[in-house]
Amino acid sequence: MSADPLQRLRTAFQNAIVAAFGDDWRDTDPVIRPAAKPEHGDFQCNVAMGLGKRLGIPPRDVARKIIEAIELDGIADPPQIAGPGFINIRLDEALLSSAIEEMDTSRLGVQPDPDPSIVVIDMCGVNVAKQMHVGHLRSTIIGDAFARILSRLGHDVRKENHLGDWGLPIAMVLHLLRSRHQDPATCTLEHLDAAYRSAQSLAKGDAAGLHAGGLRHVGPHRIAELEAQNTGADAFRAAAGETLVGLQAGDQELVTDWSCLIDVTLSAMAEALQLLGVELGPDDNRGESSYRDKLEDVIDAFTQGGLCREDDGALVVDFEDRDRPLLIRKSDGGFLYATTDLAAVRSRCRDTGAARCIYVVDARQRDHFRDVFDAARLVGWDQRPDGRAADFVHTGFGSVLGPDKKPLKTRSGDNVTLASLLKEAIDRGTREVRRRAEDPKSPTHELSDEQLNDIGRSVGIGAVKYADLANDLVRDYVFDLDRMVAFEGDTGPYLQYAHARIRSIIRRAEDDGRDAALQLEAPEERRLALVLTRWNDTVHAAARFLEPHRIAGYLRDLAEAFNGFYQACPVLKAQSDAARKSRLRLADITSRVLKDGLCMLGIDAPDCM
Ligand code: ARG
Repeated sequence: MSADPLQRLRTAFQNAIVAAFGDDWRDTDPVIRPAAKPEHGDFQCNVAMGLGKRLGIPPRDVARKIIEAIELDGIADPPQIAGPGFINIRLDEALLSSAIEEMDTSRLGVQPDPDPSIVVIDMCGVNVAKQMHVGHLRSTIIGDAFARILSRLGHDVRKENHLGDWGLPIAMVLHLLRSRHQDPATCTLEHLDAAYRSAQSLAKGDAAGLHAGGLRHVGPHRIAELEAQNTGADAFRAAAGETLVGLQAGDQELVTDWSCLIDVTLSAMAEALQLLGVELGPDDNRGESSYRDKLEDVIDAFTQGGLCREDDGALVVDFEDRDRPLLIRKSDGGFLYATTDLAAVRSRCRDTGAARCIYVVDARQRDHFRDVFDAARLVGWDQRPDGRAADFVHTGFGSVLGPDKKPLKTRSGDNVTLASLLKEAIDRGTREVRRRAEDPKSPTHELSDEQLNDIGRSVGIGAVKYADLANDLVRDYVFDLDRMVAFEGDTGPYLQYAHARIRSIIRRAEDDGRDAALQLEAPEERRLALVLTRWNDTVHAAARFLEPHRIAGYLRDLAEAFNGFYQACPVLKAQSDAARKSRLRLADITSRVLKDGLCMLGIDAPDCM
């Protein structure tokens, strides 16, 4: 049996609940948490309050019945009831040591998921001919963290970059470049991005102005002007529409131009991914265009199933519980974002065999995904080859805000590009690392420029990723590099530094305490060991709820427990050789867990900082 104390406690409490109240309560979560106050114990079981309510029994009586029934030999001391019905638990000394010893392998006690499956992660999702913006940054960082966490538990993860590379916006750019006699082969992403924006405003004309309430007050001249612009917009859209038809029909010249746009966008993307340390290979790029031959099938399936209806020439899918229908084909015969997404769902479930599809996309697309997932279920496309239904999740994330608490913009009001943001983060990280290296006592003092730059890059990127992952994903957050790159506070560099500091202790000791007998006598030693034992549970919870911030919070607890330990328990100057070796071993395992956790968040852990 594994020595994982949390698992042992959970099983023991579950069995006691069944023994006391019957088999109906077998699936009750025993609500075991780290003790709120260490003087009360190591863990506490908070089940009695909720269970008491459901059973109609005072919680203290529930707690008493549980501890009468519980078998904790070799797991914990006899538990104590406190307050309204908390059960305080102090772990058995020997179990705690053997749990830590068991962790001392390359898996660090993290057990594989007993039911591994294929998981598709829809991430990044950049749009062709557009600069990557901060929303794509979040999608990439979060998707990558999910991939790392789930792979660590043994799932077969497939990252998919659902590039926006098909449809009218791209055709508009192609049309605009042609009408300006600009050769796409010579365009940079900046050119394309400018063309994209011109095309968007040309297509819109000033329709927004016409609809605005101001219309009544603008006077006849202005109305005529707006109408004239709209005629221009109509002409532009019509021409772009023809380009789209040509592209969809496989017109050779258009297809060649179109591939140029893809190449330019993908090489800029590859540069950003390289800086971020995110691997997304060519096989992972599955743009909207890769489903272009499947769109008719989508329409056929819904039509044949009687699952859609015609509405003013368009095709829509209705849902029982809401008025908003899903548009799957426009009246001009064109397909939509949703049509492509439905084709993608089918390929992911049927061809890839995904048990779980996770869409890491801006929270503003919540309705879109709700509609797509429900439509997929209607038509039975959530079926995997083995007949079981796949699980779809949209993990919508919040916006990145500027210091004014509004979506991040440059001074000129443009969207901030990913490349500029990452460069600035790396600059700041490097400056901070260099400043520290000037101190002759710093372990980085002797390092070369190149080494310092590498560490600076890790610090800058780590700072950005940590700030992105350390909070609830749906929350907006303010992008504040000064705070993010600081070595103190709730930051990535703080954790990187905690790791590097332990590595430097071990370097100085020239000994990592391998195989030493553990002594967990001081309260701070015990406390550090207790935090370590929560690692397996933390990773599984982060995977189950798709909440990387659980890992971030855990790493902070671990770094703090280590600081407390290091202050109270001398390592290099320990009183006995046995104590020194035991402490080195604890320190070594701590640093490896820190590194493992940072790695799951996609953050480097340099050995020296
Ligand atoms: N290209 C889209 C955008 O920038 C994101 C794609 C998300 N993935 C998807 N399967 N729809 O908004």
